[in-house]
Amino acid sequence: MSIPTPHIECKDKNLIAKTVLMPGDPLRAKFIADTYLTDVVKFNNVRNMFGYTGNYKGKRISVMGSGMGMPSIGIYSYELYNFYDVENIIRIGSCGAYTADLKLYDVILVDESWSESSYAKVQNGYDENIIEASKELNEQIVKFSKELDIPIIRGRIRSSDVFYNSNFDSYKKYRDEHGCIAVEMESFALFANAKVSGKKATCLLTVSDSLELKQETTSEERQNAFTKMMELALQFAE
Ligand code: HPA
Repeated sequence: MSIPTPHIECKDKNLIAKTVLMPGDPLRAKFIADTYLTDVVKFNNVRNMFGYTGNYKGKRISVMGSGMGMPSIGIYSYELYNFYDVENIIRIGSCGAYTADLKLYDVILVDESWSESSYAKVQNGYDENIIEASKELNEQIVKFSKELDIPIIRGRIRSSDVFYNSNFDSYKKYRDEHGCIAVEMESFALFANAKVSGKKATCLLTVSDSLELKQETTSEERQNAFTKMMELALQFAE
């Protein structure tokens, strides 16, 4: 396939940086571009899945929405890696905490994504439940977190296909039997695409709700709290 792709209308590969930050919400991508970037070029409007490239402190980076769930991030990340020569994708999203020691707004750096999803099996025959994040990207994030004095918690998270589970308490199984500290819905497909494309991916998450403590945040509160995670990820500009 060539560019533009069915889901990204950008006709010039050079308009997309080597590193793309991917929040789920395209309006969060817009927020990042408006708040942090200069010399911004918008490279995608298709389905309102906005993508922008700009300069962060004089260095280049892109940011684009992924949508919710593995099929959605699966499409966008595959096209970015394979048709736009993107090297690194850093998902910056929200998660639900499975353990009592995770507090609202804590920032998690994902080491491994565990999933029962068939995404990787269907995509490329990968038949296991765990895919690792890029160790190289994670080492850089650890360095950035020390430099910016932003604490991060590292661990295995669950990537789920289902937000509304009919058995609320089922999360305890993923925590107690599979060692997952939190849940989100995209990283497993992103990591699968990075692996099959010979590229790098990782995921930073901010705790937006806790299944264990039965706490949640409003969408307004989230916007502000997510800045720590955004600032960490923006250090990848080059
Ligand atoms: N479940 C799945 N994905 C999520 C959650 C959740 O509770 N919170 C934020 N993303």
